[in-house]
Amino acid sequence: MHTNQAVLVVGGAGYVGSHMVLTLQRAGYFPVVLDNLSKGHRHTLKNVECVVGEMSDTELLNQLFTKYQFNAVMHFASFIEVSESIQFPLRYYQNNVAATMNLLDVMLQHQVKHFIFSSSAAVYGQPNVALIDETCAIAPINPYGRSKCMVEAMLHDIAAVEPLQFASLRYFNAAGADPEGQLSECHEPESHLIPLVLQAARGERSHITIFGDDYLTEDGTCIRDYVHVMDICHAHLLALDALVKGRKKMIYNLGTGRGHSVMQVIKTARRITGAAIPFVIGSPRVGDPAILVADASLAMAELNWVIKYKALDDMIAHALKAMKVRGVTLEVEN
Ligand code: UFG
Repeated sequence: MHTNQAVLVVGGAGYVGSHMVLTLQRAGYFPVVLDNLSKGHRHTLKNVECVVGEMSDTELLNQLFTKYQFNAVMHFASFIEVSESIQFPLRYYQNNVAATMNLLDVMLQHQVKHFIFSSSAAVYGQPNVALIDETCAIAPINPYGRSKCMVEAMLHDIAAVEPLQFASLRYFNAAGADPEGQLSECHEPESHLIPLVLQAARGERSHITIFGDDYLTEDGTCIRDYVHVMDICHAHLLALDALVKGRKKMIYNLGTGRGHSVMQVIKTARRITGAAIPFVIGSPRVGDPAILVADASLAMAELNWVIKYKALDDMIAHALKAMKVRGVTLEVEN
């Protein structure tokens, strides 16, 4: 049904973006990737055109939108490190906000009106509620979170006067990997908990540092809502369908509604890998809220989003499998 529907995937060589490309291909769409490869990896992309360039390059965008009749644009090309955003705010506003503005401008000039944006739980800051739903106050506490809020505000303002139709999907902690092991999570330098824990399990690092064990949680470590990357990608497909059917604007949390502490992640990974995974307790990371867990019932009710991989075990097992497959592939490539 979707055959040859072209979708521009900006940031398609990154972690979530590359899983989206695979999901689109499997669903019969025709993804085209634009990525500056500052964080992404070209080798993750198979049988897809990858244009290397910037969202801020108007001429390049004009060429791309002229070459392809895109039905939609999916935007995964934000910088995502909270601490980096505090250190280099301009870099974050330049890439996450100004370049996105350019992308929207060119896209609308070419009469492409469906836009799906990767937003974040970071828009809520540190809300004092057990489950965060979309009615929670928008109160970001760092430039990264503020950059996401700025784009959401822009989308509302533009959609009020232009034919733009958009979905802004607020991910909690994206985790896991393609269950078939075709793709993995890879940030350089790696800063995300599950890949770091698995690196320690595989002996690629000596230990993991837990950023604080004195939070007001059961075991003192931070609690996050880990949500499988394939479930996130599936929500994008559902959002795209809804846009095509005429929905004008959508804002949804994407999470499982269940939280796991850093310690629980380590213990689960120990059980799955059989490895010791040594850890040390370090200082809390600036700007880390104690607990972030989603109420994603709106996406479930309105998009019919059904979570396939709710268990942390699956996320860790799939991440591990993908690491092993990639390890083998890289050895062969070398
Ligand atoms: N953590 C450690 N040690 C580490 C790395 C992480 O203890 O070496 C802890 C963090 O303190 C946090 C948890 O593990 O409590 C998860 O940390 P991640 O760095 O994996 O993820 P974050 O929760 O910091 O951030 C992620 C994305 C953001 C997004 C946010 C939304 O990177 O872009 O989820 O919840 F905004």
